[in-house]
Amino acid sequence: MTQRLPAFQKFIDDLRAAFADAEGDSARAMGQARSLLEGFVLDDSVLAHSRGWPSTEGHKNLLLYEDPDYGFVINAVVRTEDKRRGIHDHAHAWTAYGLVDGVEELDRYRRLDDGTRDGYAEIELESTTRGRRGTVDLVPPFAIHSENGGKDRSVAVIVRSERLVGKVEQGRYRPGNQYFTGTGPDQVPYPLMVD
Ligand SMILES: [Fe+2]
Repeated sequence: MTQRLPAFQKFIDDLRAAFADAEGDSARAMGQARSLLEGFVLDDSVLAHSRGWPSTEGHKNLLLYEDPDYGFVINAVVRTEDKRRGIHDHAHAWTAYGLVDGVEELDRYRRLDDGTRDGYAEIELESTTRGRRGTVDLVPPFAIHSENGGKDRSVAVIVRSERLVGKVEQGRYRPGNQYFTGTGPDQVPYPLMVD
């Protein structure tokens, strides 16, 4: 009989406890989620399992889990191409982003204009942090950023405070100060089962 990878089941149980504790305070719940994600991405059984996860190139996310009660979502991203990724935000959702394998860079941007001009956003690079196995970043609502893989395959697990795809448009920032909103990546169900 197949069942959830035990470390994954424990991660879900611990996240549910954190969301129950936080009583609707997403910032508090996601602070806890960040610590839990640090443990999860460093688990050897997760690393071993992740070696079989399919590539998500082509604007996809693996959908590992969506919680029926608290609404949080667990995604994974498997990058296999060395290219720069689009700059974006996650609207009002909090996101914890943790690296299971490989090396990635997180670029953070600051917004310079006041956001009143339609289709226009002036941004500048604020910082670049290099992450490797075990690195977890907490990205607050509307923070402008991009996650970039390197030459080698990289795998990240993401906890989102809520599902955005199909519900909320996220901001996109393009060269020439272009700004528009769009839907998030396609969700490919992938529930981390073992025999
Ligand atoms: Fe992101």
